[in-house]
Amino acid sequence: MKIPFVFAFLVVLHISFVCDARQSFFDWISFSPDGPAKVAENVRVVFTPDKNTVVFLPLKDLQFLPTHPRFNKQLPTVIYVHGWMESGTLDVSTLAIRGAYNDRGGHNVVCLDWSHYSKNVNYRTEVIPQMKVIAETMAEELRDMFNEGYPISLFHLVGHSLGGQMVGKISRHLKKITDGTMEVPRVYSLDPAGPGFENHNIDGFEPISKTDAKYVQIIHTCGGVAGMIHRVGHIDFFPNGGTHHPGCAVDAGSGVFGPVEYACDHYRSWHFYQASVRDEKVFPAIRCISYDDFLYNGTCYANDIVYMGFGADITATGKYYLQTRGNLFNLSAGMDGIRPLKYGVTRLNVPYNNYMPMSVPDEITEGEMF
Ligand SMILES: *[C@@H]1O[C@H](CO)[C@@H](O)[C@H](O)[C@H]1NC(C)=O
Ligand SMILES: *[C@@H]1O[C@H](CO)[C@@H](O)[C@H](O)[C@H]1NC(C)=O
Repeated sequence: MKIPFVFAFLVVLHISFVCDARQSFFDWISFSPDGPAKVAENVRVVFTPDKNTVVFLPLKDLQFLPTHPRFNKQLPTVIYVHGWMESGTLDVSTLAIRGAYNDRGGHNVVCLDWSHYSKNVNYRTEVIPQMKVIAETMAEELRDMFNEGYPISLFHLVGHSLGGQMVGKISRHLKKITDGTMEVPRVYSLDPAGPGFENHNIDGFEPISKTDAKYVQIIHTCGGVAGMIHRVGHIDFFPNGGTHHPGCAVDAGSGVFGPVEYACDHYRSWHFYQASVRDEKVFPAIRCISYDDFLYNGTCYANDIVYMGFGADITATGKYYLQTRGNLFNLSAGMDGIRPLKYGVTRLNVPYNNYMPMSVPDEITEGEMF
């Protein structure tokens, strides 16, 4: 059932790389996105007060969510925004994230379902322009919700892939329409989409950045391919270097990274995050200049530990590295994940026989290819 979407995702991902290189091949297609009124009807808010109860609201009623009898105004609220080709109801990332929060407890757990627009292969020409309207409409709903008395201090956003860009835009727009008086306290962006964003080449839709919210955490897992490789948050985690992961190398041995692997790498970001919601200390990471330095040098070994994902100390900033294992039931390598090779630990991500150490630039360079 998921297979056609995964394939469509991969095919269009590849097309969109080509387009990035060839200056928007599809620009001739004229498309006008649905306006805010339609978006507010077609996009749904999915509230799961517990694992067995699902409440659907149109986006236009998000502002009234705190008046729902099952909403607890004393508790923090999370809104998860899914990615391209996914939905906010039964797709894997949504189920994983909302399941983790529901199991953890202590939160109003909400997902955005923008599948009406996300399940469209025209990534650059239709989905992204439409996403802009969705993000702006959502920001207005949030403003009204906070004006009605639900405290913004209790709120955080999580997004994956295109959703990882959307959470940046939502926060940025909220700040803009309230003259900076409403700033989202925490945003977690799980492998934010790279194509179209990394090089600022989609008109008017800037990539997520640390100026969008008080705290922006990025988990890079398919950096330079489906996701962004540049450092853009207050804190950026680069598990296994940020691009390829143990357990994803289905074509290991061929020396070629195939599309199926890219999808696996891209999805690792929400696997990691959901595990961190269940156990905050599952992924210790350390600050370092580069993955090479982290792996081969002892220089970063003594640096402070920050836990990747939900449990991160929100005052920590910079680039953080760790290694993980490939077992989806327990991706954690524990403290072994932050020991440099110098200390005698076998490299954990050995499946890649064409492993090329990569260095990660600090900030986005305008016009640079990835
Ligand atoms: C290890 O650290 C030294 C000193 O900081 C530096 O000169 C060297 O380039 C580093 N090696 C790697 C592989 O990053
Ligand atoms: C997962 O694996 C790590 C390291 O291999 C281990 O330290 C940890 O206890 C494991 N976690 C669980 C829940 O089994």
